[in-house]
Amino acid sequence: MTEPIVEALDVVKLLGKGAAQVQALKGVSLALNGGELTLLMGPSGSGKTTLLSILGCMLTPTRGSVRMGGRSTEGVGPEELAKLRREHVGFVFQSYHLFPTLTAADNVRLALDVRGDNSARAIAKTKDALAIVGLAHKAEAFPLELSGGEQQRVAIARAIVGQPSAVLADEPTASLDGENGNAVMTLLAEIAKDRSRGVLVVAHDPRILRFADRVVHIEDGSIVREERGGAAVKAVKKDEGDCAIHDHAEKHDGVQE
Ligand SMILES: Nc1ncnc2c1ncn2[C@@H]1O[C@H](COP(=O)(O)OP(=O)(O)OP(=O)(O)O)[C@@H](O)[C@H]1O
Ligand SMILES: [Mg+2]
Repeated sequence: MTEPIVEALDVVKLLGKGAAQVQALKGVSLALNGGELTLLMGPSGSGKTTLLSILGCMLTPTRGSVRMGGRSTEGVGPEELAKLRREHVGFVFQSYHLFPTLTAADNVRLALDVRGDNSARAIAKTKDALAIVGLAHKAEAFPLELSGGEQQRVAIARAIVGQPSAVLADEPTASLDGENGNAVMTLLAEIAKDRSRGVLVVAHDPRILRFADRVVHIEDGSIVREERGGAAVKAVKKDEGDCAIHDHAEKHDGVQE
């Protein structure tokens, strides 16, 4: 078995203070493997974003540990952690998080800039990343000149331009219509085919199930169930009574309205 890309081990996370404190994660273990798209599903408030943030070293566990790139992050200071994050993780968010005053190319290139990579190669890498998401022709457009789906594809280019080993996406299709959501998920699934990369997608939408190699369910801060592959996905469909949506998705072979 190869080493997971990133791994949370028995993580407990307390959030908030005093009487308002909540145990957002109650002893969660989850490993992201290379070459796999893992879908994390669960009700609102179940701890999905908290777990994604822990795996991406944006939050540190209250108890338990995280291993990234084969090393434990325990006792690692904030600067070193930021460096690990820059080297190993690309993030994609529901609301794109692009800088409105920068072109698509500059938004992507910024991710290399913060890694200290402002070489001539950075421009070529930026072009490559935009070509992967099918937006080479929109390099000089500003975010407001792009559709939601295009903006999210720029955000994906930004997430992958530095060749991270983990891509973590928090509800990346929630602001998109079905067709654009499919385009974004197709891209993320393609990105996950690289054996040296693991992709985690947090989502509510059962239409996303068919893009997943593995589905992990979280409820109230604990992982309650996990399924793998096509059969697993069918089991989830049956379980959650979303057959209607799925039959529809299958009929249209990928294009949702
Ligand atoms: N900064 C914070 N301070 C206190 N409690 C928090 C904080 N952030 C999140 N929580 C709580 O932690 C729990 C888990 O939150 P989290 O954001 O991980 O849920 P989620 O599964 O991502 O939900 P959603 O689907 O609504 O995005 C919730 O009970 C939430 O209210
Ligand atoms: Mg969330």
